[in-house]
Amino acid sequence: MSLKVFSGAANPGLGRRVSARLGINDGNVSIKAFPDGELHVEVQESVRGQDVFLIQPTGPPVERRLLELVMLADACRRAGASRVSAVIPYFGYARQDRRATGREAVGARVVANMISSSGVDRVVCVDLHTPSIEGLCSVPVEHLGATPVIADALREVIDNDAVMVSPDLGAVKLAERYARRLGLNEAVIYKVRVSGEDVRTRSVLGDVRDRPVVIVDDMISTGGTVAAAAEAMLEAGCKPDIVVAATHGLFVGPAFERLSNLPLRQVVVTDSLDVPSDSRVPVRVCGLDGLLSEAISRLHNGRSMHGLLARE
Ligand code: R5P
Repeated sequence: MSLKVFSGAANPGLGRRVSARLGINDGNVSIKAFPDGELHVEVQESVRGQDVFLIQPTGPPVERRLLELVMLADACRRAGASRVSAVIPYFGYARQDRRATGREAVGARVVANMISSSGVDRVVCVDLHTPSIEGLCSVPVEHLGATPVIADALREVIDNDAVMVSPDLGAVKLAERYARRLGLNEAVIYKVRVSGEDVRTRSVLGDVRDRPVVIVDDMISTGGTVAAAAEAMLEAGCKPDIVVAATHGLFVGPAFERLSNLPLRQVVVTDSLDVPSDSRVPVRVCGLDGLLSEAISRLHNGRSMHGLLARE
């Protein structure tokens, strides 16, 4: 069974870099929209009997990227692929993994069902918002961790006395992993979400006075969480020279505006998404091509995933 990699339209550059590392060309696909908006998806080379990996983060526009992915999976399955793996470096809807109020949909479950029933045999993803997504998918999930990749970039910009800050209770375990890897102390902020765009901080646990801080999170969406965390840190007396790290850089809505008003030394993200840029914010993008190509190579060859997983 030979190896084949296809990219959807979400981040073809990442797909090409992963394929190059694997020493293959990524496969040709055609993704078009009819005038009424319906998608038409076609793989343009044979996949019969092959081990296919589809690389497609489901970031904005989320519904479109999701549909491209499941239609690609369907196309490969119908064209006779022996195995289809969906490599989803950023998994959209992961924040809707439970009902917060009584009458809302569990969006992550709906999306997991769509992906699981599209013909994929396995999902590969990176730093999920919550590991509970694995339980929502009815196919096996390989949950990779980008902490080592980002920590290497952080080593180049942080000071030895920096404090690793979790901007909310949900990011505590992630911050712990970074703190352990980089040998730093930790602080935690108690955050309350007011709306999709706005958050408030209530209190800070840990001492950051006169120390540089590194705020870590799984994603930066509108930048509200990072901005509120940075303001709480400045109020608590940290040095006005803040580093931010997040696996997924969505940077939607007011994100760049908010970040540009903060004293930031650097914002480190990965290329799980095709990261937009803004000259006002010093963003550094770390490549996931090494991690993803290693994961694909091991899965293709039936080797252990030890050392690549988020929980390690
Ligand atoms: C929430 O729990 C997540 O981990 C992030 O903190 C949040 O989704 C980031 O979104 P925003 O940048 O819009 O605050």
